[in-house]
Amino acid sequence: MTLALPSDSELCTQLALWLPEQRWFSGKSLTLSAVRLRLRESLIDTDGFAAEQVVVDVEFAVGLAQRYQIPLAYRVHPPEALLPFALPDLDVDPIPGTERPVVYDATADHEVDDHYLTALAEQQTLGSITFRTVAGSDIDTALRSRPIGAEQSNTSIVYGEQLLLKLFRRLEPGINPDLELHRALADSGCEHVAPLLGWIESELDGEPLTLAMVQEFVANAADGWSLAVNSVRDLFVEADLHAAEVGTDFAGEAQRLGEAVAHVHADLARQLGSTHAAVSADTIAGMTRRLDAAAAIVPEIAERRAAAQAVFDKAATAAPTTVQRIHGDLHLGQALRAPSRWIIIDFEGEPVKTIAERRLPDSPLRDIAGMLRSFDYAGHHSLTDFSTLQDSQREFRAKEWTTRNGSAFCDGYASVAGTDPRGESDLLEAYLLDKAIYEAVYEVRHRPNWLPLPVKAITRIVG
Ligand SMILES: Nc1ncnc2c1ncn2[C@@H]1O[C@H](COP(=O)(O)OP(=O)(O)OP(=O)(O)O)[C@@H](O)[C@H]1O
Ligand SMILES: [Mg+2]
Repeated sequence: MTLALPSDSELCTQLALWLPEQRWFSGKSLTLSAVRLRLRESLIDTDGFAAEQVVVDVEFAVGLAQRYQIPLAYRVHPPEALLPFALPDLDVDPIPGTERPVVYDATADHEVDDHYLTALAEQQTLGSITFRTVAGSDIDTALRSRPIGAEQSNTSIVYGEQLLLKLFRRLEPGINPDLELHRALADSGCEHVAPLLGWIESELDGEPLTLAMVQEFVANAADGWSLAVNSVRDLFVEADLHAAEVGTDFAGEAQRLGEAVAHVHADLARQLGSTHAAVSADTIAGMTRRLDAAAAIVPEIAERRAAAQAVFDKAATAAPTTVQRIHGDLHLGQALRAPSRWIIIDFEGEPVKTIAERRLPDSPLRDIAGMLRSFDYAGHHSLTDFSTLQDSQREFRAKEWTTRNGSAFCDGYASVAGTDPRGESDLLEAYLLDKAIYEAVYEVRHRPNWLPLPVKAITRIVG
């Protein structure tokens, strides 16, 4: 019997009901006013089973529209395991001679996931969608798929512990920096990223639209955040030992991580260019803008606003520095410790910025500051009660761990880059402050009892 797929308007109605429930949907706090279909391309159309690649623009009562990629699949009797991924049924009577299928998130269906590999291996073109592979890469279509199972803002699928397909959920016009930078780093033979194998792209309103990226899956890797937090936990257990004396001392790893980040920066500069210039007025203006916005909601920042502005003003007159493409959202969770080396992942950049903003050159010090702030968070992670943060024994040891590993990271970076990031202290402090202000706003909104951690950093920086 023929499948009667929902019409465009039926699909939009179903999606309007279903989208707010999805963890990757970032418009949850907004009132959704319309879902508009921008792309609907058939991927699979066989007897009783269909799949489509769908892109929608979601409009809200107040605020800018957001664009999402939603691969959908259709089966009349899907296996029970797929039912949790179904969109609400509209209860429409089928046209005689047809059957209304259940509509569900296609990424949960192995058959659709397998189909992506075939389409990539064959470099298929489906309407406006193209599947591309990097020259020389061989996609094994026999690999079996599984969801990655990580909490994430996109949807990733692992194939045979060898390939990783990352389907970008929130889309914007223009090439996604994750693909752009992985491509540049693949061209330079960078050893500190997972090699890029292919991508899926489309075009909308005359602009490229990156839908997905395929890269090697780094098997047997531990993420930097977990390793760091374990190291701190062990330090707390060994009440009489210093960080350097504990078996899980992290300093060697931190140093190698610094070396890896320096290699990535050098390769990005070589592939995509760099200049020696003062940090741009736009960069400083961005820091000031974030400070003003934060001061309006965090009293601890409002009290220190003038001193914080002085740190940014000082950065504006600092000596010229290297300006180039950077990672943009670097922290310990963006580093995987593979058996033989550190791998840096997720070059999408800061989620709150537009793609155009994320693609602007910036100082590598922004990435270094991101990592140093992440060391501070890892060091203090298990001190859940920050109200007792003052000079307790644990706080002393957390600080010791943070300082030791931040220094080791900078040492490693300097040994490869040839210059020590701590030498550009006025700029580094400005980037650290900008990051801590961002964290303070996040904590006020989501985890108020963590607020003292970024506030401590802000207080130290502004003196
Ligand atoms: N190449 C890889 N090999 C193995 N695991 C990987 C690889 N890339 C990513 N991962 C794992 O998948 C997780 C999510 O990846 P990634 O950060 O790229 O997704 P994301 O949707 O951008 O996440 P977020 O919402 O945190 O920004 C990572 O934390 C990591 O554990
Ligand atoms: Mg991301």
